[in-house]
Amino acid sequence: AVSSFGIIGMGVMGSSLALNLAEKDVKISVYNRTLQGVEEDVAQKLVDAHPEVKGILPFDKLDEFVESLEQPRKILMMIPAGQIVDQQIARLLTFVDKGDVIIDGGNSFFEDSAKRQQYLQGYGIHFVGMGISGGRDGALKGPSLMPGGSEEGFELIKPYLEKIAGKDKGGKPCMHYVGPDGAGHFIKMVHNSIEYGEIQVLAELYGFMRKGLGMSIEEMVKTFKTWSKEGADSYLMDATLAILSHEKDGKLLLDGILDVAGQTGTGGWAVSTAAKYGVPYAPLTAAVTARLVSTHKEARVSFAQTYPRKTDEIDQKEIIDALKGAYDMARLVNHEIGFSLIKKVGEAEKWGLNMSEIARCWTNGSIIQSSLMEKLAGVFKSTDCLMASAALKASFENGAKTLAEVVGAGLKAGIAMPVMSAAINFFYGMSSGQSSANLVQALRDCFGEHGYRLVDDVSGKIHRNKWRKSKEEA
Ligand code: 6PG
Repeated sequence: AVSSFGIIGMGVMGSSLALNLAEKDVKISVYNRTLQGVEEDVAQKLVDAHPEVKGILPFDKLDEFVESLEQPRKILMMIPAGQIVDQQIARLLTFVDKGDVIIDGGNSFFEDSAKRQQYLQGYGIHFVGMGISGGRDGALKGPSLMPGGSEEGFELIKPYLEKIAGKDKGGKPCMHYVGPDGAGHFIKMVHNSIEYGEIQVLAELYGFMRKGLGMSIEEMVKTFKTWSKEGADSYLMDATLAILSHEKDGKLLLDGILDVAGQTGTGGWAVSTAAKYGVPYAPLTAAVTARLVSTHKEARVSFAQTYPRKTDEIDQKEIIDALKGAYDMARLVNHEIGFSLIKKVGEAEKWGLNMSEIARCWTNGSIIQSSLMEKLAGVFKSTDCLMASAALKASFENGAKTLAEVVGAGLKAGIAMPVMSAAINFFYGMSSGQSSANLVQALRDCFGEHGYRLVDDVSGKIHRNKWRKSKEEA
């Protein structure tokens, strides 16, 4: 045995993490299965492509790969989520020994990870379900790492994770053992859900600024650059600026990209998890739905002819001034609801999640790193609810006004703003002391005798009423 760490799966993320580890002088073995009928040895290819990097041993036979690792073995799987993970685990079980650690670094569903940990525990194998964020660049230079599951297993891999993780402003690794069971993948799922929201808000703004306000790409770039200096800077804002400036053959490449958005699972899982645990989640649900709507391209094109919309005149100056406030507010709400899902599930599952540490872990390496996240890492030290934070009260108050204004203008202009409008509705709903849910309760009782509680009856007793006269009585 010569290597101290092994990686299975030489896709973009697996190979980038391998290079990152090798650069930190960790001797590693990498394995990629060679598909039948395909000659290419992917693991060997990685080594050949990087002659400058020493210490990577490539394998295309699983038994030889496992044998090359020092015990207790540390094996990171970087393969697609789903059944493939179970198949890979089953194959590994033939070769690994008690005390070894298997890590799943893909975007697996957290309930699957909890089951896998239980299952592997039966074989004396430590299973760590780990969220990894940062894409290729993050993986290469310093990802954000969210390990969960077996704590004993985590302790064994901790030094390696610390070496490769991105560093926060204070130089601490953006890595944090989040909790037992599937907690690591749960946190990554919520991370991605916030990512969906952040991306969609940028897309909504871009659409509104371009179509509703008739702004040029140059004006937009200038505006976003100014905002970045005013606290709205983020990895995704930076990426948006790069995209808005990217020309191909003299034309904006973005204009040639088909408006049909993909997704690979995590965003939708967050929505169903929120529903399961009773967490209001409309804005981040809207981000998933917006991608789904985008996939109905043919219908959209056809209905655009059936229901043509004329863009109304908008008082540009006033709205342009409100845009930054609206953007900040929609982002605040996205983070508020993402973290409220973390709080609720963490409490229900007794995972002892540390929201400030989780936010800190996302301040570098992560796709959702931003100045806001830096701020939230501090805010979550004293509260677990952003709307309850005195430090953010003015931001919510002022943000609500600008967001309502922008959403109103956008809808009037005939432009869909699903996340931004869901965000203002969420805020209004959550800050309405008296809502109209009394009618919901009355209706439920009226047709189904579901009962209701009365304002004046503090006992909480369920009351029922006969709301309508029967035919005979009438
Ligand atoms: C990250 C990302 C990444 C995710 C992609 C794709 O943090 O690096 O979240 O893990 O796989 O963003 O997600 P969708 O295909 O669902 O958009």
